[in-house]
Amino acid sequence: MHSLKFLLPLSLLAQSASATIRFGCSQLVTQRFDPLVTPGEVAPHVHQIIGGNAFNLSMDPNEDYAETATCTTCRFKEDKSNYWTAVLYFKHSNGSYIRVPQKPNHLVGDTKGGHTVYYIAGYPPFQKVTAFAKGFRMITGNPMIRTKGDRDPNDVTSNAITFRCWTSDEWLGPSNLLAPGVGEYDSVGLPTKFCPSGIRSNIFFPTCWDGKNLDSPDHFSHMAYPTGPVDSRLGIIWHEGPCPATHPVKVPTILYEIAWDTAIFKDDWPTDGSQPLIMSMGDPTGFGQHGDYVFGWEGDSLQRAMDNCKDSFGTPENCPELTLLTDEEMNSCTQPALVPEKVEGEYISALPGCNPEQHGPEPATMVPNCGAPSTTIGAVPTQSYTAPPILPSANCVPGVVWTPNGILSPR
Ligand SMILES: *[C@@H]1O[C@H](CO)[C@@H](O)[C@H](O)[C@H]1NC(C)=O
Ligand SMILES: *[C@@H]1O[C@H](CO)[C@@H](O)[C@H](O)[C@H]1NC(C)=O
Repeated sequence: MHSLKFLLPLSLLAQSASATIRFGCSQLVTQRFDPLVTPGEVAPHVHQIIGGNAFNLSMDPNEDYAETATCTTCRFKEDKSNYWTAVLYFKHSNGSYIRVPQKPNHLVGDTKGGHTVYYIAGYPPFQKVTAFAKGFRMITGNPMIRTKGDRDPNDVTSNAITFRCWTSDEWLGPSNLLAPGVGEYDSVGLPTKFCPSGIRSNIFFPTCWDGKNLDSPDHFSHMAYPTGPVDSRLGIIWHEGPCPATHPVKVPTILYEIAWDTAIFKDDWPTDGSQPLIMSMGDPTGFGQHGDYVFGWEGDSLQRAMDNCKDSFGTPENCPELTLLTDEEMNSCTQPALVPEKVEGEYISALPGCNPEQHGPEPATMVPNCGAPSTTIGAVPTQSYTAPPILPSANCVPGVVWTPNGILSPR
């Protein structure tokens, strides 16, 4: 007989001591900014950003953003980190695109857009983890790839990014009983059929740090996923494999859960079996899903939370180390979009930033000199914003090259 934990939803694990915090964050802004990949330049594709309002086109690792930010869209007042992800569009049969709204996840409150963030210190038993430090940042996933193998127990990375097809709205409905990345409702690419209650994107960041570098040129190699094998009934969230010797320091596992309200497009869903969803980088497969993180917790607040908040489900109210904000406080923290283009809320004729649909399986390529708004003088409204120095690159070619397999490297 299987151990009970194979069958239990995450919700029922509260009896075992394991530090997790799980919280909703609302949208700060949605626009083509990516201070890690294209600092100082408008990014090639649209992102939704959540977290502290010190988010900017460039973010200096020496700056203490926990001090600079005056509000955050996340549940805990101490957390001025920024978290960003690509956005999803629905393609109408007439060829126009509209952003798929992000809805609150289960049990996170009434957040406006945004997504859910977890910091996990290992599921039972509780593990001591080292919190990230000021200046830490990382990316996982690769927006240029258009094919991937299936989940492989011996390759932890292959289990890191998945999509849940929700068949019902209830928290404990049949499609929500297992951990993210586990079971028949999860796929490595975007679901290819209509999901009656929407889709959840699950992004697990690597949890092993080299112990030295707060960042790396590709924003990934200072981190590593733990070694396998992953139990396919438990997934990466329960995974206890050791860190590789090159990256020996266990940090909290960050998980993003993004709930897309694809169900509102039911009446316009294609009847010919085609898949009308496409990510902002022109990716209809979902294999290019990725997430970015810039640490911004006040002082030692994250370390204290990971040491002392022993609630396996990570309910914010059960973490007295941290200060709760109300939904209203989170929702009122916003930034104006500064790139002068329409990215959401109405049908648009093309994905912003020159992102033609690229179905793969070969990696996507950038469109050079595409003429989309960039940081050229006048493109960003000067009354509210002074653009940082312009880097000498064409509009749509970011200051990096994408490696076919890994993430990205500086040019
Ligand atoms: C972003 O950076 C610019 C240029 O350094 C600065 O003028 C602006 O105040 C910053 N915005 C925020 C929200 O910090
Ligand atoms: C496509 O349909 C949507 C929804 O009815 C509409 O808003 C949009 O303008 C249409 N686009 C074109 C090119 O007709």
